[in-house]
Amino acid sequence: MKLTRRAMIGSTLALGACKQPARSQTIAPVAALAPLRTAPFPVGVCLQAGQLADPALASLLVSQFSQVTPEWEMKMEAVLKPDGTFGFTAADAIAAYAATNGLRLHGHTLIWYSQDGGEAFARVANGGESFRNAYRNYILGVAGRYRGRAAAWDVVNEPVAEDGEGFRDCIWRRNLGMDYVAHAFRHAQEADPGAVLFLNDYNLETNPKKRRTFLMLAEQVLKAGAPLGGLGTQTHLSVDVAPGAIKEAVRDLASLGLPIHISELDVSTTSTRLMQPDTLRINTQQAALVGEAVEAFMSLPPQQRYAITVWGVRDIDSWLRRAETRTAATERPLLFDDGGAPKPAASAFLKAAGR
Ligand code: XIL
Repeated sequence: MKLTRRAMIGSTLALGACKQPARSQTIAPVAALAPLRTAPFPVGVCLQAGQLADPALASLLVSQFSQVTPEWEMKMEAVLKPDGTFGFTAADAIAAYAATNGLRLHGHTLIWYSQDGGEAFARVANGGESFRNAYRNYILGVAGRYRGRAAAWDVVNEPVAEDGEGFRDCIWRRNLGMDYVAHAFRHAQEADPGAVLFLNDYNLETNPKKRRTFLMLAEQVLKAGAPLGGLGTQTHLSVDVAPGAIKEAVRDLASLGLPIHISELDVSTTSTRLMQPDTLRINTQQAALVGEAVEAFMSLPPQQRYAITVWGVRDIDSWLRRAETRTAATERPLLFDDGGAPKPAASAFLKAAGR
């Protein structure tokens, strides 16, 4: 998926690069910055349990962020064993770390097209009632374990087709039809009535058709009376994304009146068509996009500002650095550099947040 995602990002950039207005070459000096968490809204970051052993990362995380999303540990591939039992050790470690450090916990993700439940669900596939029971029991088991501890869940992740034409094929849709989405929200509410329940997807900034399909699904879920409580836009960008695209997307997504989560913000710096992708130019464009994302979020009514989550603490922690691509080692997609120093994007984040 990562290679496809990166190819997707790259092709979007190619389009974006053709119509880039020249941006100013100056970068605001990265003076002594206030912590990101001083922003007037929750600032989240993804976290892997294994990263907790890195004192530099842990120190930067608790000083800068006020919310955590398990990057992997609460996903079906991490939790569900072939015999249908659950393994929560790593997820529990993140939940405990969040509680100990006063960090809000965002659960990610209960149902995702890209994870089919392996043997445990293969045994009940096409099984009608047995599949429906297994589906409900999975959601009750995972969301129920963190009842009262997870502030919210990405209940269904990436349901819209890559090109925005309809919805993804997946085991959940094949067995339950598109009602799998509304059912997931009902089961999640049954498991944890106090959690805010999100529908989450990506490329909503760069693919207006996908955004329209996503919003149509959200409206269908609401009309079905399911407890959809928020919309997540992952916001995995690249430096060549056209100015204004983020603001337009956030404005559209907010039209349903639900809380908005910019849920996985990063700005890829390698898949660019810039003629001279020098560091200054890249950092300037990255800072401009991060600033636009925060400005768009700040333009929302306060009740619609759920959180902005960045998808990694330091550049070196980014999933893009682990991609099997020739440019992965040179990715600088986040707000802090490999050594943990704030980048111009961190300065832009705080300036747009009014800090
Ligand atoms: C990614 C993680 O960052 C990687 O470490 C893992 O190998 C694959 O998943 N959209 C999502 C996230 O919703 O769950 C994905 O996270 C990135 C894309």
